[in-house]
Amino acid sequence: MGSLNKEEEMEQIVEEPNEAILYVNGVRKVLPDGFAHLSLLEYLRDHGVNQNPRSLADILRIWEVFYPGTTKCTDNLFLVSKTILSSSFMCFNRELKQQKTNQVLFVGKDIGLTGTKHGCGEGGCGACTVMVSHYDRKMKKCMHYAVNACLAPLYSVEGMHVITVEGVGNRKRGLHPIQESLAHSHGSQCGFCTPGFIMSLYALLRSSKTPPTEEQIEESLAGNLCRCTGYRPIVDAFRVFSKTSDALYADITSLNLQEGEFICPSTGKPCSCGSKTNDQSICSTRYEPSSYSEVDGSTYTDKEFIFPPELLRRKLTPLNLSGLGGLKWYRPLTIKDVLELKEKYPNVKLLVGNTEVGIEMRLKRIPYQVLISVAHVPELNILNVKDDGIEIGAAVRLTELLNLFREVVTQRSAHETSACKAFIEQLKWFAGTQIRNVASIGGNVCTASPISDLNPLWMAAGAKFRIINCNGNIRTTPAENFFLGYRKVDLNSNEILLSIFLPWTRPFEYVKEFKQAHRRDDDIAIVNAGIRVCLEEKGEEWVVSDASVDYGGVAPLSLCAIKTKEFLIGKKWNQDVLHGALNVLRTDIMLKEDAPGGMVEFRRSLTLSFFFKFFLWVSHQIEGYKSIKESVPLSYLSAIKSFHRPPLVASQDYEIRKHGTSVGSPEVHLSSRLQVTGEAEYTDDTPMPPNGLHAALVLSKKPHARILSIDDSGAKSSPGFAGIFFAKDVPGSNKIGVIVLDEELFASEFVTCVGQVIGIVVADTHENAKLAAGKVHVEYEELPAILSIEDAIGAKSFHPDSQKFMRKGDVDLCFQSDQCEKIIEGKVQVGGQEHFYLETQSSLVWTMDSGNEVHMISSTQSPRKHQVYVSRVLGLPMSKVVCKTKRIGGGFGGKETRSAFIAAAAAVPSYLMNRPVKLTLDRDIDMITSGQRHSFLGQYKVGFTNKGKVLALDLQIYNNAGNSLDLSLGVLLGAMFYSDSVYEIPNVRIFGSVCFTNFPSNTAFRGFGGPQGMLIAENWIQRIALELKKSPEQIREINFQGEGSIMHYDQQLEHCTLAQVWNELKVSCDFLKVREEVDEFNLQNRWKKRGIAMIPTKFGISFTHKFMNQAGALVNVYTDGTVLVTHGGVEMGQGLHTKVAQVAASAFNIPLSSVFISDTSTDKVPNASPTAASVSSDMYAAAALDACEQIKARMEPIALQRNFSSFAELVTACYLERIDLSAHGFYITPDIGFDWSTGKGKPFSYYTYGAAFAEVEIDTLTGDFHTRTANVHMDLGYSLNPEIDVGQVEGAFIQGLGWVALEELKWGDASHKWVPSGCLYTCGPGSYKIPSLNDVPFKFNVSLLKGNPNVKAIHSSKGVGEPPFFMASSVFFAIKDAILAARAETGHTGWFPLDNPATPERIRMACLDEFTAPFVSSDFHPKLSV
Ligand SMILES: Cc1cc2nc3c(=O)[nH]c(=O)nc-3n(C[C@H](O)[C@H](O)[C@H](O)COP(=O)(O)OP(=O)(O)OC[C@H]3O[C@@H](n4cnc5c(N)ncnc54)[C@H](O)[C@@H]3O)c2cc1C
Ligand code: FES
Ligand code: FES
Repeated sequence: MGSLNKEEEMEQIVEEPNEAILYVNGVRKVLPDGFAHLSLLEYLRDHGVNQNPRSLADILRIWEVFYPGTTKCTDNLFLVSKTILSSSFMCFNRELKQQKTNQVLFVGKDIGLTGTKHGCGEGGCGACTVMVSHYDRKMKKCMHYAVNACLAPLYSVEGMHVITVEGVGNRKRGLHPIQESLAHSHGSQCGFCTPGFIMSLYALLRSSKTPPTEEQIEESLAGNLCRCTGYRPIVDAFRVFSKTSDALYADITSLNLQEGEFICPSTGKPCSCGSKTNDQSICSTRYEPSSYSEVDGSTYTDKEFIFPPELLRRKLTPLNLSGLGGLKWYRPLTIKDVLELKEKYPNVKLLVGNTEVGIEMRLKRIPYQVLISVAHVPELNILNVKDDGIEIGAAVRLTELLNLFREVVTQRSAHETSACKAFIEQLKWFAGTQIRNVASIGGNVCTASPISDLNPLWMAAGAKFRIINCNGNIRTTPAENFFLGYRKVDLNSNEILLSIFLPWTRPFEYVKEFKQAHRRDDDIAIVNAGIRVCLEEKGEEWVVSDASVDYGGVAPLSLCAIKTKEFLIGKKWNQDVLHGALNVLRTDIMLKEDAPGGMVEFRRSLTLSFFFKFFLWVSHQIEGYKSIKESVPLSYLSAIKSFHRPPLVASQDYEIRKHGTSVGSPEVHLSSRLQVTGEAEYTDDTPMPPNGLHAALVLSKKPHARILSIDDSGAKSSPGFAGIFFAKDVPGSNKIGVIVLDEELFASEFVTCVGQVIGIVVADTHENAKLAAGKVHVEYEELPAILSIEDAIGAKSFHPDSQKFMRKGDVDLCFQSDQCEKIIEGKVQVGGQEHFYLETQSSLVWTMDSGNEVHMISSTQSPRKHQVYVSRVLGLPMSKVVCKTKRIGGGFGGKETRSAFIAAAAAVPSYLMNRPVKLTLDRDIDMITSGQRHSFLGQYKVGFTNKGKVLALDLQIYNNAGNSLDLSLGVLLGAMFYSDSVYEIPNVRIFGSVCFTNFPSNTAFRGFGGPQGMLIAENWIQRIALELKKSPEQIREINFQGEGSIMHYDQQLEHCTLAQVWNELKVSCDFLKVREEVDEFNLQNRWKKRGIAMIPTKFGISFTHKFMNQAGALVNVYTDGTVLVTHGGVEMGQGLHTKVAQVAASAFNIPLSSVFISDTSTDKVPNASPTAASVSSDMYAAAALDACEQIKARMEPIALQRNFSSFAELVTACYLERIDLSAHGFYITPDIGFDWSTGKGKPFSYYTYGAAFAEVEIDTLTGDFHTRTANVHMDLGYSLNPEIDVGQVEGAFIQGLGWVALEELKWGDASHKWVPSGCLYTCGPGSYKIPSLNDVPFKFNVSLLKGNPNVKAIHSSKGVGEPPFFMASSVFFAIKDAILAARAETGHTGWFPLDNPATPERIRMACLDEFTAPFVSSDFHPKLSV
């Protein structure tokens, strides 16, 4: 379409448009009326699937707009696309029935752009990121910015250009350098997050005049979540587009390269892609040199979509459109029109970014009727820098505001911009870039959220709000007086906010922002604050002439601490005023014990901590002025050092052991090019077959109750309703279960958890199905519920036959003997974890031959389980049920069993109505219904010598299974196997129990109980260390297992590399030196502390059920020399297909590109075990190899006849000789077996070993923390693909970091009385925080042990998926180490309990000091749902 450089040179002839339009990827689309309820994402993915026309005339109108010219072929014939519009087709059908005149013809035209993903629907994951471009007439330039398409209303982008990942590049047109780079650097595993990352960077590059810095690139990704990669490869891929310093690139010698390091040809920096391998060829193939300039206009841009000339010429016009249910949408372009509309509709919702209203309408289901988009009203978009301050229009977006403040602080004198600087700092941590690009200050102010980040600052900074009424009269009110109550502001129904005036600060007037959230990036505050003082020099003293102390998160509204403010004014600025103000503040801000949000003690402590920090900061600012007498002690400065994240530095150190053409090479993921272009299809992207329906679940709202009655009349009269089904309708058996049939598909008489499925509704659209399901009214008789492990123990509520026992030696005898010089007892609570795969659970089921066969495409780790469940509930033989899985957007155990009931539920309406049914769970429903990692309770008694040698362990261990057994027994046994971690203990006794609780069934999650067992063990190791005043690392080393050690379940360790891995890590991280540095830092810094830890791991590889250790593969060789492999394993990002293909390629001695792996399907490879337990590469690669060897053996006689010039020639010759070129391969893991009744045997084929080192820094006043360094060293044998394995290590580590330090599940239980009983509060990315890029260690080094082949698995490799997960506990124990240093400052030495996750609340409340003392005693223990 031309060069980007010409965008702004276009001649502008302003045209009056006569229709609403939008450009998508350079293609003009007319926006019909009637779509006001659609988000941009819905429009892009389904293109009108939600429209629900009411009449034939409606259909014709909509149709005409979408398909001009194709609407009518004849009077009686209409064209309907294959995928579109199953919904309109349905309505169409109904109309047809009434009219009895028309026929329908299907044409196979798919118009959905499914590259943009739906990960959460609430602006919290970034999977839906697209770039929006519009021409700004005021600035006379094209603006390009990233937005969340899930929250952007469709009509908000009218007259604009939307570019999706498909428009950036694709395999036919060519990949964009961003896509190439991400694919090459292994930055896409499951690929579900990938389009979002591509679009965030793409928008940054398109909007930057000069190459962005690495910091800017990382900042632009703050709103994008990835659950697989650990972010490092994404950063590496994207930093290619940044050049931080030309000198850096020009003058390589100045870089002081370490010996053996070299310059990466793409980044121009010391290489982070295996810098110590000295193999530059690898690096240069991984990082194709590409630079920003290619994106900027010289090379690639010829292929890029420019801003459509029509849009340059076109003037915005007012819009007056409508949506479903009578929704009205207006886009006025003058303040006069806004006020007229406001007068007409006093309850109207004004919109700018829709980031509040969108959540209210979509998640909270508030049915607003009139929406007015005020984003383009000039009076609301003013930004005037005046003599006395800045006037900011209410519709100004946060990004614009941030840019203005950044400019202003460079232009005005420093004393004037104290408030501006505070806003800059606060806005840095306000949401992610996509939200900041659209969200307005007016929207933030008028929503009046009690945790708004900006409102306390407006109040503190003395801002004034200008308010205009419908008559055009303007009044002004101070921000301090504007907030009246929970989401109530001082605006009459005929008023709107016009603008905000922010005054310049005066000399010696200081404004500072504060915010503490669960996660630093893109998270709402737990508590925030804006504090200001104005000081006057009076004689020898500084006196407070004015002040404002304002908090968020401590009351239903942003709160001014009035008594504190009054106390401060007139006082001298010294230690006395500090202590006095803190005393007043304590009574100024009161929070009831059961205040919504919980964490009451933490929140109250934070109010004091923030004020203390403010006092120190101001004192430091005025230090040096003649009359200040007291200076801030150097060690106290640590309280006011703000967090700065340097660009990520990472290394990956491994050896390459090649075997044949491909095995051992760091090949890129086979689907990566499809994933980076958005061409890779996931279940929900599958085009809906004709006549398809969408499903939604009817869920229990009570944790334990008898169902008295179900009224579904509301659902039946809901728009688009097609059918509803309950237990009585299930054609086969309603009883389901993984090991025992202890679940019902649809609850019949009782419900045993909130979120249990009671029925299923099908309707024409996803939205309509949800709407109808929400209208089913269930009457319950509530019954007592068990909502914790402790409750379950008290009530002896255990799943039947689930109490297990393992022993070694004689624990009682040992405790009684005098060998045990010390005995400790304690308990450890281990928190759960949500899988948070980016792609939610999804199944599409359809029938064939009128229900004689049932087929499905499912997002599952176990297609076989779907086949079993569906055949059972439908009463069909398994041979008539087929499940296929192409790829899944992450699983981590969450789609091993808990996906099967989704498919089974969807199968019921599909079978009974003989129509395709798609069931894709929304994020909140997924989190509520499908179970998590088990929380655990461990009660231990450990005996040891004074030297630290552990002699006896007596452990009672419980897991919280929820309301069905699922895999909980296996998970419990997993924890029991790993309860010794890596320690040689002569006497062990472990009792395990699986608790029945009234929560959704918990399930497998990476590590399968192992991490929980090991975390309990490392807790008592750490306690022994404190008892003996030694380091935990010393205690670990004294107790290490080694070659020949016999486990408490009788397996003997062979080829044990634990000590080698540990020792190499200890040297590479320079442990002893860092220990000294950390101790020194802690001496110098009172309010920031550092901690370190080294943690070992050993992880057994095999399914512990022997029968599951079997695998099949089907290999077909074709006459063109290509090979198709199908096997029983599922590709979920872990690179399984790539590794299996590498093995096949090497087997046939052909290039990897000649091997293709198709989808996993139960009709090609039957009876496959789930893809789990880190065994899949071992097993499926071995099965594929077996098949390859069979074919090779058949080909060998021909191959020996002569020299063939190519593999294709050989294959053709074999074909002509009628040789079977297809084989089924099979593999069983040899030499394993475990007797579950005795608790003895050899459950594992071998062990994977590893060790990790972490260094963290905590802010003792707020609980904020970051990981400075993490080094992970793993023994993975001779890796089949070292880059994929490194990716698994990094991804597992960051996921583990989430478990140990960030991700807290909050359930309605005794610990969280403000949450309804049995409900999950943390059911979306807004409240449940998985790690973001900002949580990646500053230095993140991964290395693989060299020269250690594994004799037990294919090509000497080792399983990798789960073992590195526990390595993140090094961060947890490093945090604990830092807390110990903080506690020592106030004389609290000795052991203390710390639960995971070590959230800011737990860190801060463990750092006992004068600011926690008023609220808690020294044994305070924050609550945890366990
Ligand atoms: C993922 C995510 C992360 C977020 N993170 C943060 C965060 O870190 N900190 C934080 O404080 N908030 C956060 N928010 C909240 C939200 O983004 C902000 O409050 C935002 O500023 C709202 O602006 P908007 O333009 O999108 O509001 P909209 O949704 O468009 O409007 C919000 C409300 O304001 C009213 N309104 C808008 N303009 C006017 C006006 N001129 N006069 C009268 N009423 C008006 C509307 O009627 C409506 O009720 C987050 C939200 C999301 C979805
Ligand atoms: S789907 Fe839009 S941010 Fe998650
Ligand atoms: S690759 Fe990022 S979520 Fe899977």
